[in-house]
Amino acid sequence: MKVYRSKVLLRKDVGLLKRKGRVIGLVPTMGFLHEGHLSLIRKARKDSDCVVVSIFVNPAQFGPKEDFKKYPRDLKKDLALCQCSGVDMVFVPDLKSMYPEGFSAYVNVEGLTKGLCGASRPWHFRGVTTIVTKLFNIVSPDIAYFGQKDAQQAVVIKKMARDLDMPVRIKVMPIARERDGLAMSSRNAYLNPAERSQAPALYKSLRLARDLYKRKERDPEKIIAGMRKLIEREKHARIEYISIVDPETLVGVKRISGKTLVALAVRIGKTRLIDNVVLN
Ligand code: PAJ
Repeated sequence: MKVYRSKVLLRKDVGLLKRKGRVIGLVPTMGFLHEGHLSLIRKARKDSDCVVVSIFVNPAQFGPKEDFKKYPRDLKKDLALCQCSGVDMVFVPDLKSMYPEGFSAYVNVEGLTKGLCGASRPWHFRGVTTIVTKLFNIVSPDIAYFGQKDAQQAVVIKKMARDLDMPVRIKVMPIARERDGLAMSSRNAYLNPAERSQAPALYKSLRLARDLYKRKERDPEKIIAGMRKLIEREKHARIEYISIVDPETLVGVKRISGKTLVALAVRIGKTRLIDNVVLN
């Protein structure tokens, strides 16, 4: 496994492999790797000849009052996990090489980025699509892997790749969960024991949505009301949104028919957590 700090060297080495016809798989991350990230890496390992993992906490996707500075970091452990998972190349750029002074070009997907997480974090997806475009340009992967955990992010990136004719296939992998159902996230590390014990309420409410749907409930308002009640029992929980939307357009549905995304964002104490399920 080779670790690259320099985008020039990485691009050169990937270029050599691409000229030999090797399939390049990219897993973009912000590090503090957990089983969710590793499931993407394993899938990339199966599909491609060369697996590239990027580790970069991207300031452009954090708001001025958000957790960029205290976002958890553990490069040594991340590199060990990458090594064990058969990663070929790890890209760990520094801030200045990704955002040199005077940086001013951004990639923005309109529409899809307005609702759900975009409503409370209006800068966020512009930061994500900009860094992912840069990573695509540096690594030129054949396939890039994203998690369903960040459902809106995955939809936005697919739309970006399609609309801008990016020569990359986007694969979206299922959500990896803790035993009690909590979706794995680097941010779970922020939760104190009391908060951690309340965090499974997110997934419980999503399971409730699934159960109600199975029992033929098709009215999103009724499902959301049940979910709210369940989450509001936890005293550290503050609901930011619960939305039932079309999984491609992310537009709210009036009645559930066909594939539908149930997505939520909840603060547990100061920690903002997101999760979702797809009803089918
Ligand atoms: P990060 O939160 O580190 O996540 C990296 C990738 O892992 C994302 O595609 C995310 O959806 C996926 N992932 C996270 N938790 C997961 C889980 N429990 N199960 C399955 N997949 C999971 O998402 C980002 O970083 C950034 O926005 C990034 C795309 C790297 C751009 O900076």
